[in-house]
Amino acid sequence: MTVYLRCGGIAAMALAMLAGCRPAELPRFTPSAQVAALTDDLGEDEIATYRELQEQIAEVLSARCGQAHQPKLLGHPDADPDRLRRGFDVFTRFCVQCHGVNGDGQGVLAAHLKPKPRDYTQGIFKFISTSNGKARKADLVRTIRRGVPGTSMPSFATLSSSDLHDVADYVLALTHRGELQRTLAQIAYDDGELPDDAAVDEIVEEILAPWREANGSVVMPLTPMPPMTAESIETGHQLFLKLACSRCHGNDGRGGSLGNVEVGTDVWGHKAAAADLTSGMFHGGGRRIDIYRRIYAGIAGSPMPAFSGEFASNPDDIWRLVHFIKETGQRRRRNELPATAPASPAAPGAAAEASQAAQHAPDRAPEEAGG
Ligand code: HEC
Ligand code: HEC
Repeated sequence: MTVYLRCGGIAAMALAMLAGCRPAELPRFTPSAQVAALTDDLGEDEIATYRELQEQIAEVLSARCGQAHQPKLLGHPDADPDRLRRGFDVFTRFCVQCHGVNGDGQGVLAAHLKPKPRDYTQGIFKFISTSNGKARKADLVRTIRRGVPGTSMPSFATLSSSDLHDVADYVLALTHRGELQRTLAQIAYDDGELPDDAAVDEIVEEILAPWREANGSVVMPLTPMPPMTAESIETGHQLFLKLACSRCHGNDGRGGSLGNVEVGTDVWGHKAAAADLTSGMFHGGGRRIDIYRRIYAGIAGSPMPAFSGEFASNPDDIWRLVHFIKETGQRRRRNELPATAPASPAAPGAAAEASQAAQHAPDRAPEEAGG
């Protein structure tokens, strides 16, 4: 594990050596898999060109996004360098073990975790308040503060508000750097040369535009929430079956926890698991508005689809689904679940796959307190 110590001054250095700890190296960005792959399978004649392209990509990234310990926020030349630097400090203390120096989700602990720590470099986040697929900074702050209950992502509620904001900016800096790196690697691969400075400006603009639009894309409920009653819960259950939510989450909402629901992979290439809605540990937050937004806009990067088009004639129905799901979230705690799932008509052959798929059931690590 990369331990980052700032051994300022000779005294600290001597102390560190006495204590048997070597003065730590500063974390450094390393080329992404796509950039590294540019020199794969090349003959003598081409390899020099592509090595040079790799160096040019590193130069563009360094000029526009800085270094790990001296980051710049892409396209925001006015972003306060001291705050970004503090974001780096927080990230290096509390996040890098899982999310990696590059923010690519390849920290030293990642191999042992399921679900995997988020790879920020695709520019996709799951638990957002918008319908355009992009996170607002406030969404990131909230996720970091809250953690992702039911996964290894800890809650950092003990961090100060300014630390939370600084580390969220640092996450965004890593994210945009990753997006730029991906685009440049793709262009180098396709064209055998890199765009000039003005064209890179345009690429940066294209990367950042949807992030700016996120602020105007917050999902607001179509109607105020009707009261939650036994009837609204029952209507919600019927909708759950009618809209085939049960296809992935199972008839009783237990999803992948029984191991018999195959939902495919997420955009990061990992096997996805439909949320167990009975556990009460809502990954994206347990407020009614959180569940509303998950249903309305889907979960970016995952197989969970957006259902915004289903409620045009009956906008209250989305709230009835929310009521059913809130109720379902109590069932495990109330011990209301049978040992096996009711047969799911939409998943023939499920039993045969069950034992194999069970190995992929998500870890339900207890929520850790972080910070
Ligand atoms: C012990 C491992 C671990 C540590 C430490 C950790 N994370 Fe995570 N983080 C995860 C995992 C696992 C996920 C993915 C959860 C999921 O996909 O449901 C995640 C997801 C995220 C996400 C994405 C949420 C979304 O909406 O997609 C952000 C942002 C994030 N972490 C930020 C941080 C920050 C900032 C820190 C440090 C302050 C941190 N994490 C520390 C494991 C960790
Ligand atoms: C194609 C499969 C699929 C269908 C259909 C589907 N879901 Fe999902 N759903 C998922 C997956 C996968 C996740 C977990 C995403 C993640 O966190 O990685 C999920 C997550 C959720 C969550 C978030 C739970 C949390 O932990 O925050 C809610 C709420 C939800 N689904 C409700 C529904 C409802 C309601 C419907 C029907 C209107 C539905 N789903 C249909 C696959 C599906």
